[in-house]
Amino acid sequence: MSRSDYPGAQPWIPDHPDEERLRAAVQECRGCDLYRDATQGVMGDGPVPARLMLVGEQPGDQEDKQGLPFVGPAGRMLDRALDEAGIDPASVYKTNVVKHFRFERDGGKRIHKSPVRWQVAACEPWLLTELALVRPEVVVLLGATAGQAVYGPGFRVGAVRGKPTEWPDGLGSVDVVPTTVATAHPSSILRSRQRDVDLAALVADLVVARELLA
Ligand code: URA
Ligand code: SF4
Repeated sequence: MSRSDYPGAQPWIPDHPDEERLRAAVQECRGCDLYRDATQGVMGDGPVPARLMLVGEQPGDQEDKQGLPFVGPAGRMLDRALDEAGIDPASVYKTNVVKHFRFERDGGKRIHKSPVRWQVAACEPWLLTELALVRPEVVVLLGATAGQAVYGPGFRVGAVRGKPTEWPDGLGSVDVVPTTVATAHPSSILRSRQRDVDLAALVADLVVARELLA
């Protein structure tokens, strides 16, 4: 099977989506090849509507097993950063640009592998449906995959992090156009040799997002 055999997620988007229907429908999605090896689809989670939506890359090993976003080590790092930024982690809607876990097997281990561009594009209808449902005022883009999903392949976190930017014109149907704030992915802090510095930078970008809501 090649990528041209996959139609993208649109045929699986329910007509009148709500959180429950989305969670059920994503389990049926065959929009790209990633459903085949993953345990389940992982839809976003959090209050609906929510003023703040956080967008990561894809579920990780724990998320794939539990069926919820950001419940593994990166999620714990994210909640710590939110807390330090004065944002209640329970008040935000968390999701990913890709809903199935992409990985490589290394012995018994499943090693995260970033989704490629066509897989991100295939999965985009889910993200845009969540956006229309959650109606956030601010969207935080966690890492390059999330940033590129919204702004295209030229997007670099380093160039724009912490700078409020408008959601691109015509992407999805939103009546409240959100402002985005890009930042590093919390998993990059887990791998960093200067964790304190990188965590402080993530917290600073989240403070920018909080202040936009004030
Ligand atoms: N990394 C992500 O980008 N999303 C998750 O849900 C977990 C880890
Ligand atoms: Fe569908 Fe997205 Fe899963 Fe691909 S990753 S099968 S498009 S839900």
